[in-house]
Amino acid sequence: MSSLTSKRILLGVTGGIAAYKSAELIRRLRDAGAEVQVVMTTAAQEFITPLTLQALSGNLVHTDLLDPKAEAGMGHIQLARWADLLLVAPATADFIARVSQGMANDLLTSICLATSAPMAIAPAMNQGMWHKGATQDNLDVLQNRGVFMDLIQAHKLAVKLVWDECWMWMIWSPLLRICF
Ligand SMILES: Cc1cc2nc3c(=O)[nH]c(=O)nc-3n(C[C@H](O)[C@H](O)[C@H](O)COP(=O)(O)O)c2cc1C
Repeated sequence: MSSLTSKRILLGVTGGIAAYKSAELIRRLRDAGAEVQVVMTTAAQEFITPLTLQALSGNLVHTDLLDPKAEAGMGHIQLARWADLLLVAPATADFIARVSQGMANDLLTSICLATSAPMAIAPAMNQGMWHKGATQDNLDVLQNRGVFMDLIQAHKLAVKLVWDECWMWMIWSPLLRICF
């Protein structure tokens, strides 16, 4: 498949149990022709290693905001400018809360605030977190700002009606909407 040929996808990985799915996602994006750079939160690195995602993406994984060496290389502003699409998958409740409030307290949220690229998120959390008014309000905020997401599929994922099919669909549907 070459549907994403030459698309530059900045993949944000946050610290939920579904972080292990990002390995497969990177493979699929690259198979579809995309170039992939990965940014991981600190929590995400507890679920899957940067080394794994580096090997799969073919690029150094970005993890630090306040690191002079990293900033002298491809820093947060360059990453924000590089992206054709910022895709955060999985997106934790905590990440969704931070980004909906315009926070920039780590590398990923700083890029979210700095980029002018379209943004898509694949929320993934348990149903307690999902149903909380705060989470739903935060998702509304992001949706009203034009962030792509599929709330029906995210709901199914939260209540465990489906898992693999839902996950892949959530990821591909915003990409397809944006890129074609
Ligand atoms: C075993 C375990 C699994 C977790 N899974 C999720 C999850 O699926 N979704 C979620 O929103 N938070 C989950 N959390 C909580 C997040 O790790 C926590 O909110 C963290 O601060 C998220 O940080 P980040 O958004 O910067 O990656 C989990 C925590 C643990 C200990």
